[in-house]
Amino acid sequence: MSANLVAHKVGKRAYDIMLLNASASKASSSVIRIAAIGDIHCWETAVNHIRPLFASVNLEADILLLAGDITTAGTPREAEVFCHELSDVKIPIVAVLGNHDCEENQEEEIARTLQRHNITVLDGDSTKLEIKGKTVGIAGVKGFCGGFDKYAVEPFGELALKSFVYASLREANKLELAMNSLDTDYRVILLHYSPIRDTVVGESLELWPFLGSSALVRPIDTLGANVVVHAHAHYGSPRGTTKTGIPVFNVARTVIHRYLVYELESDDRLGGQ
Ligand SMILES: [Fe+2]
Ligand SMILES: [Fe+2]
Repeated sequence: MSANLVAHKVGKRAYDIMLLNASASKASSSVIRIAAIGDIHCWETAVNHIRPLFASVNLEADILLLAGDITTAGTPREAEVFCHELSDVKIPIVAVLGNHDCEENQEEEIARTLQRHNITVLDGDSTKLEIKGKTVGIAGVKGFCGGFDKYAVEPFGELALKSFVYASLREANKLELAMNSLDTDYRVILLHYSPIRDTVVGESLELWPFLGSSALVRPIDTLGANVVVHAHAHYGSPRGTTKTGIPVFNVARTVIHRYLVYELESDDRLGGQ
């Protein structure tokens, strides 16, 4: 795997510097560079506030991934402002929505707004890009809550609790279907909620069940992937790995400050069981 990013044990400042170095490195002709960030939380008066963040992305990456919470209050107007801010980005952009984008029950209109501006929005489906002679498959889903490992919430007791858990399992099933359809050289997983515990460390323990779900990691470890990115854990940790060793990055803007650039190299193997 590419070693552009340091483990989360280093201090935040060192991490930022490494990110900048990674971004500035001259990619060889065979390296595919994936920029990723989430939790932009665009607001209606954000004109010219978000644009500078992406000023160099055309030079630094081949694909831009947006890991949800594109808006603050979940309005199509915020999504429209966001698209205006990204109008100089010429590389392919692929997004999933986040919980904030659902706040006004207008997530479908938000998705249509993004798609009108040539941003591919994934919700349990995938997209395939051909870059530098290789195919990159991106499977995306928002995901949901539920908690991790042996402390994951079980569907037992009240109907309300069962429907909470089933919502999480449905998202995991959607991801599995999306991954099943991918037959590409590289496989990238794009989520809003975390699939593992490692990248929510730093958040209050009481919040962990609402930051992600282990259900999401099962298809990832079973079917394999090169890299996973998510957001939503604003005060979590930047990096973790699944049980089979697939790297997972929390690209919440509050965690990484600037988009991550991850390099897929020609000898990268698809992780998984
Ligand atoms: Fe967020
Ligand atoms: Fe979120």
